[in-house]
Amino acid sequence: MKYTDISEVFAKGVALAGREVTVAGWVRTARDGKNMAFAALNDGTTLRHLQIVLDKSVIPADALSACLRSGAAIEARGVVVEAKTDAGGYEIDASEISLIGECPADYPLQKKYHTLEFLRTVPHLRVRTNTFNAMLRVRSKLSFALHRYFQERGYTYVHTPIITGSDCEGAGEIFRVTTNSYADAKACANEAEYIARDFFCRKAGLTVSGQLEGEVAAMAMGRIYTFGPTFRAERSNTPRHAAEFWQIEPEVAFAKLPDIIAIAEEMIKYVIRAVLDECGEELAFFEKAFEPGLRAKLESVAGSDFAVVDYTDAIRMLKESGEQFAFPVEWGLDLQTEHERCLTEKLIGKPVFVINYPKKIKSFYMKQNDDGKTVAATDLLVPGVGEIIGCSEREADYDKLVAAMTERGMNLDDYKGYMELRKYGSVPHSGFGLGLERMLMYVTGVGNIRDLQLYSRTPGDLMA
Ligand code: 4AD
Ligand code: MG
Repeated sequence: MKYTDISEVFAKGVALAGREVTVAGWVRTARDGKNMAFAALNDGTTLRHLQIVLDKSVIPADALSACLRSGAAIEARGVVVEAKTDAGGYEIDASEISLIGECPADYPLQKKYHTLEFLRTVPHLRVRTNTFNAMLRVRSKLSFALHRYFQERGYTYVHTPIITGSDCEGAGEIFRVTTNSYADAKACANEAEYIARDFFCRKAGLTVSGQLEGEVAAMAMGRIYTFGPTFRAERSNTPRHAAEFWQIEPEVAFAKLPDIIAIAEEMIKYVIRAVLDECGEELAFFEKAFEPGLRAKLESVAGSDFAVVDYTDAIRMLKESGEQFAFPVEWGLDLQTEHERCLTEKLIGKPVFVINYPKKIKSFYMKQNDDGKTVAATDLLVPGVGEIIGCSEREADYDKLVAAMTERGMNLDDYKGYMELRKYGSVPHSGFGLGLERMLMYVTGVGNIRDLQLYSRTPGDLMA
């Protein structure tokens, strides 16, 4: 490539000073003065814009008028010099600029600031704002750090299927996968015929979690993780729920609940440390624009122990807190976001694993505790977000698993292979799922999941 990255110009400014470079990018803002003009250029390699200084006695007027427009893609050649501004850094004294892609005046991002709500209406352009520029880089670094954490510890990365015939969470929130048309449906006398006519000749859907197949892999490979998109047709229109989100899901053979809790805590701290070390510029931006004290929060979390609280104690603490809640607090009921946040933000003041939930409100695959009432499951709750991890030891006993599935009215035929894992060399094993976007909410302070994905998918919203 003949172009120097803008990140390089800033990083190697001392060495590059006085040398000629050619850069290319999109104009963020342009200023036209009497003798001089300026373009702030961004090429996506850094949050920082490179100032292109244009001497009007050097640069032809027609090149200037085409290039000095927000959104235009341009190329600039010139000498790297120390910036004369207070912010310091480097800029380019341009000897030549040329237009690569014009940008007419109807470009929607003319203003310096746009609301996140407005930006959601232009997903193909919002990536050109500082917020999305920073978010995508943190998302990339965070994802890579998650891979690194597991790779460094001997986990095998497995790719679990996206199309499945099972419902891991049993919540009936599956997106159906079908090749049947409306006309096919009308031609069928009943559902059995409709399904028989379909591509797989059985009900199929997009996976809600890679866990069930992850367990299969762990029963041979010992320690595995999956990292991919998962899908939920949840109608909950909240800032925390997306119909398509990414999950990282480790599954560990021979691990019990306390073992997997230790892994989850270590992993969270590891990736927070990575973001602190590798995304300084982005964190400074998020701290300023979204969450004051963000860096100090992350430093503190990376360096302190998480709490562990029994569900039964959590219910008691919430009842005794004197807080008014919209939803009831009662043993046997699920914790709502308001309860989760009260626990982690007010009552405990740091990330907390709530353990041993009532079995009736949790999934069929969780290990049943000896008390007959609870399961060896935990959610990790963090201030500002609520649940970011769902985790459990898995039921490794064939008969207990069948009983739990039968109680829930599940079709055992759909889970034959999964059940057989409990027949052939069954071992205790545990795993969890971390929602990548929930983790991003936590490390960036951005409050709505719709702004942490390149494209967000929520009920009634499928922007292209
Ligand atoms: O708690 P969940 O439903 O757990 C599972 O899917 C398990 N099978 C995971 C496992 O043990 N392997 O989901 C796990 C995490 C949640 O804690 C949350 O962070 C995220 O996935 N999540 C969502 N994120 C965004 N939008 C949604 N609709 C989400 N539903 C769950
Ligand atoms: Mg959960």
